[in-house]
Amino acid sequence: MVLAAGSGRRMRSRLPKVLQPLAGRPMLGHVVRAVDEAGLRRAVVVTGPEDHAVRATVEAAASVELECDFVRQERPLGTGHAVLQAAAAVTTGAVLVINGDLGLLEAEQIRAVAVAEGDLVLATAVVADPTGYGRIARDAGGRFCAIVEEAEATPEQAAISEMNVGIYRIPADWLWATLGSIEPGANGELYLTDILESAVAESLDVRGVALALPDGPLNIENKRDLARAEVALRRRICDQWLDQGVTIVDPGNTYIDADACIGADSVIEPGSHLRGRTIVGVECVIGPNAVIRDSLVGDRCELVNCQLTGARLADDVEVGAYSTLREGTSLANHVHVGTHAEIKQAQLHEGVQMGHFSYVGDAEVGARSNIGAGAITCNFDGEQKHRTVIGKDVFIGSDSLLIAPLVIGDGASTAAGAVVTKDVPAGSNVVGSPARAVRPRSKRRTNS
Ligand code: UD1
Repeated sequence: MVLAAGSGRRMRSRLPKVLQPLAGRPMLGHVVRAVDEAGLRRAVVVTGPEDHAVRATVEAAASVELECDFVRQERPLGTGHAVLQAAAAVTTGAVLVINGDLGLLEAEQIRAVAVAEGDLVLATAVVADPTGYGRIARDAGGRFCAIVEEAEATPEQAAISEMNVGIYRIPADWLWATLGSIEPGANGELYLTDILESAVAESLDVRGVALALPDGPLNIENKRDLARAEVALRRRICDQWLDQGVTIVDPGNTYIDADACIGADSVIEPGSHLRGRTIVGVECVIGPNAVIRDSLVGDRCELVNCQLTGARLADDVEVGAYSTLREGTSLANHVHVGTHAEIKQAQLHEGVQMGHFSYVGDAEVGARSNIGAGAITCNFDGEQKHRTVIGKDVFIGSDSLLIAPLVIGDGASTAAGAVVTKDVPAGSNVVGSPARAVRPRSKRRTNS
């Protein structure tokens, strides 16, 4: 059972706490992924009344092997109240309860609680600063007595450094009966943690699993925690790719989201961001300072100091500094895009050269064509977008303005500064403003 219905006021954000992004994924997504990787096969998620985004997050993070059900807690009346909402949905003898804000949770930590001996098991940790956490009160013999929440703690209890982590394994029938008999506190909230005292009173075999937390507490309550967790997670993600044969020149200055993927022998230079569901092939050089979001990059590509969003690049593609590839850009093998270029909703076929300072939008460019410096597809007439179709082996001269809709035939060329307002037949050459046909150019050039 994953508790995800709290309001998270300490985050001071309009976005619910469990949906705050962490390494490109809502933090609840990390919890669900850890549950999945721990080998659990069913999760009941307790959501608040606005549950659409929470459901979507859970469904995106869970593999097909993890069956997810949802129950609603209409008002955030405490962790115990949240657990009670799921009573009818739980059919097992023992239930694992996991706080949905444990953004740094790992599968191993769940497994440790799942397989530990005892009737009731809870994860604990000793931390340098336990402020804000439930403290683990033990008797002189070291046996559990209670979990004492900060607001109710005496000064002696507040000084305890062993904290309640927020992962529990509890016998299900006992849980429902016990929670049903506990009174909410003065603030109207029913605390899950109050069951520990009942368990001790009823002589249940209560065990703790002591977790080492090298990255600090697993939970995230506020923006400071979020920033701390982001750094820790980013380091884990870099380590994972380094172990897979990726070179990361400066892991402290590299930002790889949890859902990104990188092929072996690729080199990630400093200042680079691989965001969202970006996939990079093998033997690429990314950066320095490339920002790539939700894009597919083939093998042996070189992307220097550029921005890609929703782009698809085949193999051996180069994109240079200050170029922006927006949604719907598709570059075939051996396309070269140089500096200060912008491309959107456009397909550039094999071997297209687009050296510098040009814009290609809502367009198709045939194989081996050359887009000269400063050439622009004028795709917007103030009201509508129009397409430009450029054939194979076309030479678009520097500073050509291609007024869409427009078709430029195979092997055609436009002179420098041409303002092309009409379709250009295959093999012809147009010059001037508005452009008119003249004798075809005798020799094709390639750019440099
Ligand atoms: C809780 C524990 C505390 C522990 C800490 C670890 C209780 C009473 N206290 O405190 O002992 O040290 O976690 O992080 O459990 N939630 C609901 N419905 C609610 C309230 C909360 O679903 O009505 C969910 C939240 O979305 C969150 C989780 O439960 O994912 C924990 O809630 P939170 O209010 O953050 O508990 P803490 O005060 O951190």
